Amino acid sequence: MDHLFGELGQLTPQVLRGVHIYKGMVNANGQSAMVQDIRAIARKAPFYSPITPGGRPLSVKMTSAGQFGWFSDRSGYRYIEQHPSGAMWPQIPKSVLDIWQQVAPHAPEPECCLINYYGEATKMGLHQDRDEADFQWPVVSISLGDSALFRVGNVTQGGKTESTWLESGDVAVLGGDARLAYHGVDRIKFGSSTLLPKGGRINITLRIVR
Ligand code: SIN
Ligand code: MN
Repeated sequence: MDHLFGELGQLTPQVLRGVHIYKGMVNANGQSAMVQDIRAIARKAPFYSPITPGGRPLSVKMTSAGQFGWFSDRSGYRYIEQHPSGAMWPQIPKSVLDIWQQVAPHAPEPECCLINYYGEATKMGLHQDRDEADFQWPVVSISLGDSALFRVGNVTQGGKTESTWLESGDVAVLGGDARLAYHGVDRIKFGSSTLLPKGGRINITLRIVR
């Protein structure tokens, strides 16, 4: 496993408004392995463009692995047990589970591995992750590819926010008092990484749903 992670010294997180950010936790080999794993997932469960309950397409493209996938259409935001095609979600790859086990050693295995693709103009508004049953478990997010300006606010709407650049290989953990922190992505720096041949960013989010 060693060859997939950064130096142990880098496992000390930076803390942004309670969010723990492990800079460079996944090294170059680990990032490439994850991209391969995601390509395999996307062959079985292709990326789709979710529609908000209000009827607008989200700019992010999505797919999932695990027992539950995240979905949205005019009927609302929700977890679903099959890809919209009816196919089962593929299994969460070991490369990704290894990261969860490192940063959330006391938690059971994640049930949802959401995979978001950010193209050049993609952003994600401030929101909470709150459709899970038990907020004692953290949300773990892995960044791959182009850098993203990640913004964190408070556990209630409004008030002060702060941002930081998430780079390829960074792992962010929303847990404890920051589990319900508002967060979002202002923009990506398109072309800042060569990990994805066509550019853009992949964010992997791991959650326990039930
Ligand atoms: C999310 O909150 O769903 C994604 C966060 C990120 O892309 O870093
Ligand atoms: Mn989120």
